[in-house]
Amino acid sequence: PRPIIIDCDPGLDDAIALAMALRAPQLDIKAITTSAGNQTPEKTLHNALGLLALMQREDIPVAAGAAKPLLRELVIAEHVHGSTGMGNTHLPTPGIKPAPHTAVELIASLLRTSPEPITLVVTGPMTNIALLLAQYPDLKPRIERIVFMGGALHGGNATPVAEFNIYVDPEAAEMVLQSGVPLTMAGLNVTHQAFVLPQEAERIRAIANPVAQAVAEMLDFYLPIYLNHPRGLPGAAMHDPCTIAWLLAPELFDSRDRWVGVETKGEYTLGQTVVDDLQQTGKTPNVQVLTNIDRAGFIDLLLDCLTRY
Ligand code: BDR
Ligand code: CA
Repeated sequence: PRPIIIDCDPGLDDAIALAMALRAPQLDIKAITTSAGNQTPEKTLHNALGLLALMQREDIPVAAGAAKPLLRELVIAEHVHGSTGMGNTHLPTPGIKPAPHTAVELIASLLRTSPEPITLVVTGPMTNIALLLAQYPDLKPRIERIVFMGGALHGGNATPVAEFNIYVDPEAAEMVLQSGVPLTMAGLNVTHQAFVLPQEAERIRAIANPVAQAVAEMLDFYLPIYLNHPRGLPGAAMHDPCTIAWLLAPELFDSRDRWVGVETKGEYTLGQTVVDDLQQTGKTPNVQVLTNIDRAGFIDLLLDCLTRY
């Protein structure tokens, strides 16, 4: 199985991404680290621990990341993920404590000691990963790839042009994007194609295990946000699960390699991912940009993952 570390800010769709990953035989999850994003760092850490309890994977170490973005104050997404970050879902009390290391220390030590390079999956702001790369540039070759949810080919959800994860810590995202580490980007252009329809949420509810039940309950909170949004998706966008879906079934996606940078100074455009899609700059592509997903295949994969609990 492919060794991965998941850096996340659970968060409802982060939780669903974890549900997809934690019983997938193709993946060997070395650690989960948490970022400040959808909720405060205390809450995202607590949720990660509770999710491991729910999914009976408390063998996986968890470490807390940075308390706030590199340069800016934290912006959270309570309106999307609720006051706990988990909608109305109550998670079991964690049976384990976080590791006595920071996220950066834990990731660095795993990268250093792993016999093979490790893939980093990032489903929140990139603060921890930027700090890791700044502090331990010698470990870059030990990173097989960074697969992240963030940005978009065009448009945003935090501002007209910025996606939330990038908007929260644009300086961190720019450091990661220009780091030279191989990158795969699941931006809004693809994650908005990966939606779960209300009738598909009912298929999830019909899977008789506690994890599928919890995911269905999360969707009870998360779906209406999308259905009631003026932009009107027909279902709930599975942003973060796209990263795990790409690892499990890359054939579901189309992609192209492009140069991508992050706007860190713009008055109106802070946090925009600037994708040189028409290849006008002559800059060497630094990102594999996912462009399309086979939605039906994604739903089958999601259901299959949830059936494993
Ligand atoms: C991203 O922002 C967060 O609210 C979600 O968890 C996802 O990572 C979508 O823009
Ligand atoms: Ca997230």
